[in-house]
Amino acid sequence: MTVPSDVTHEAPRGATESFDPASPEEWARLRELGQRMLDDMLEVQSSLRDRPAWQELPAEKRSLFDEPAPIEGIGADAAYTRFLTHILPYGNGNWHPRFFGWVQGQGTPLGMLSEMLAAGMNPHLGGFNQAPAMVERQVLRWLGSLMGIPEAGGLLVTGGTSANIHALGVARFAAVRARGGSVREYGVQQWPGQPAAKPLVFYGSVETHGWARKAAEWLGLGNQAFRRVPVNSAYQMDLTALRNQLNADRALGLDPFCVMGTAGTVNTGATDDLCAIATLCREESLWFHVDGAFGAMAALAPTVRAQLAGMELADSLAFDLHKWGAMPFECACVLVRDAELNRETFATTATYLAATNRGVSAGGAYFSDRGIDLTRGFKALKVWMQLQADGVAKFGRIITQNVRQAQQFAQAVSAHPSLELLAPAPLNIVCFRYRADALDDTSLNALNEELLARVQERGIAVPSSTKLDGRFALRLAHVNHRATDEDLARVLSAVVAIGDELLANGGRW
Ligand SMILES: Cc1ncc(COP(=O)(O)O)c(C=O)c1O
Repeated sequence: MTVPSDVTHEAPRGATESFDPASPEEWARLRELGQRMLDDMLEVQSSLRDRPAWQELPAEKRSLFDEPAPIEGIGADAAYTRFLTHILPYGNGNWHPRFFGWVQGQGTPLGMLSEMLAAGMNPHLGGFNQAPAMVERQVLRWLGSLMGIPEAGGLLVTGGTSANIHALGVARFAAVRARGGSVREYGVQQWPGQPAAKPLVFYGSVETHGWARKAAEWLGLGNQAFRRVPVNSAYQMDLTALRNQLNADRALGLDPFCVMGTAGTVNTGATDDLCAIATLCREESLWFHVDGAFGAMAALAPTVRAQLAGMELADSLAFDLHKWGAMPFECACVLVRDAELNRETFATTATYLAATNRGVSAGGAYFSDRGIDLTRGFKALKVWMQLQADGVAKFGRIITQNVRQAQQFAQAVSAHPSLELLAPAPLNIVCFRYRADALDDTSLNALNEELLARVQERGIAVPSSTKLDGRFALRLAHVNHRATDEDLARVLSAVVAIGDELLANGGRW
């Protein structure tokens, strides 16, 4: 698509244009629209339970999204009307009180308002001499000490994937340097004159989230470098298997540099024995990374925290604020115990970014020197506002509430003759299925897949699914601060009712 040549390419002579309203009257109209947007959004958020948990965008509304970019705009009011009619009702449902899919947080009203403040102010968080950077520094200090690694250097990033890849990148930097090389100069390639290097490999359980494969590929190590260790019956990394694999790999000429433990695996919510992995890493001089994408936030809940013992021993820790921290997307955190090592992995020198002694750039672009992104938004504000408003204790209470609700749900599943737990549920993830004696696993897989689609398509709730030992599992991952006990009871009764309905159809649907 090209811009037609007959459109006006310049403002009238002597005038300038801007995206700001052009007159006091236009500002007044925008203010009125903004107030309407705010009212509408808060109205929807306060009545989510009365709305479907999910509904599909109808076919007749899809054509809007095939339209080419408008050459002349339709105005903010009309654009907003399109948002109301074509977008707002058709999200993936994750803000709903009965959304339990994948591990997606709900966001909060104050988080939403804070996002508006952050976008309105629109500061550049490369660093610099400004209050928003002080906010991020403070949030990072808070998070570091809540996670038990107060000395860590850290950064807010977009998500758990990004935070984990960042951490593994620092581990790789340190490993190559410890072996006499320089990953920043030569990457992982074998340059003439450089010390010969064995292939670097790292370890995580087979239950490690899919980010690890992306990391292996993107860091130039290759998928084969991610060594998948089997798990025990509790879905935790089998540490005997880990030791055996380390020895076998060394015998093969591979060079282990890192072991990753997970605090809250994505499938079942299992937490590896982090203390034991920390000890092994110390003994073997390996980097100890913890993926705490959602589980790490349980550190804020005194009654659940014990499950994460050993997390505070990590060389690096990645976790999300947009999962169990309830923040609107996106927001995650990476903490690296050796802050200077983290800086050395990423810092660059560019004259146009040099720190000055005074003025805006006093201190320089120190956040950019801690990670990949130069231009960074004001993600810290929503975290800061919510923590200021509600305090750490309330986060802890909600996490405790979610764990209690998930445990009660798991108990109700175990007690119900038509339901079956498919994995232990130690934290906030429950994997289960509808069952019937007459049906084998293949039929049960098909029935439960259909059941899940119906629960979602009827707008009742949004669990997601996974496969465990070849068995299709309904998966309830509970990080939902909006869910009441009644919401969970409704999910359970809907699953049973729809399962009965499918069974009554004799497995034909
Ligand atoms: C254990 C674990 N690690 C990493 C991730 C990826 O996090 P994100 O979706 O924020 O990139 C997830 C997402 O569910 C997860 O559960």
